[in-house]
Amino acid sequence: MAGQVRPITLVGTPVLHRACRPVQEFDAALAELADDMFASMYAAEGVGLAANQIGVDLRIFVYDCPDEDGERHSGTVVNPVLELPALADRRLDDGEEGCLSVPGPHARVARPDRAAVRGFDVKGDPVTVEGTGLLARCLQHETDHLEGKVYIDRLSARARKKVLKEYEELRAARAE
Ligand code: NI
Repeated sequence: MAGQVRPITLVGTPVLHRACRPVQEFDAALAELADDMFASMYAAEGVGLAANQIGVDLRIFVYDCPDEDGERHSGTVVNPVLELPALADRRLDDGEEGCLSVPGPHARVARPDRAAVRGFDVKGDPVTVEGTGLLARCLQHETDHLEGKVYIDRLSARARKKVLKEYEELRAARAE
């Protein structure tokens, strides 16, 4: 693996809670960042990772995630734009979701069961990724990250509090 594993930023870190800057240079540094993101995602056993989850304020995410048929898809999307089915065609999947930046708990989040993102690869060539199942969830979750939104921001106040309590308790237990 080419990349370096970098520490994952945790909920509460400012870079996770504001929109990231668009990528403007498709250079060697960007390719290196993507390598580090893949290495960090695999080390943490995640299915997706946004740049601000390793502290970098840029609009890029990586993914390696199965779709509804269990087929694995992986890649990098720079400056992603999310596309969801029209409201009339939209079906919600209320499956469980978690996040490497909120390690431990999971919660149900209703999201459209299919999604696409349009963007660029690390060389600047256009890419479109279409996803179903967990991949659809992943594409939405990672695009949210780049907007400064963590999945718990989509929960009811009560569910959010429960997730954060579980996270804090696990964190305290690990620190003992
Ligand atoms: Ni996440």
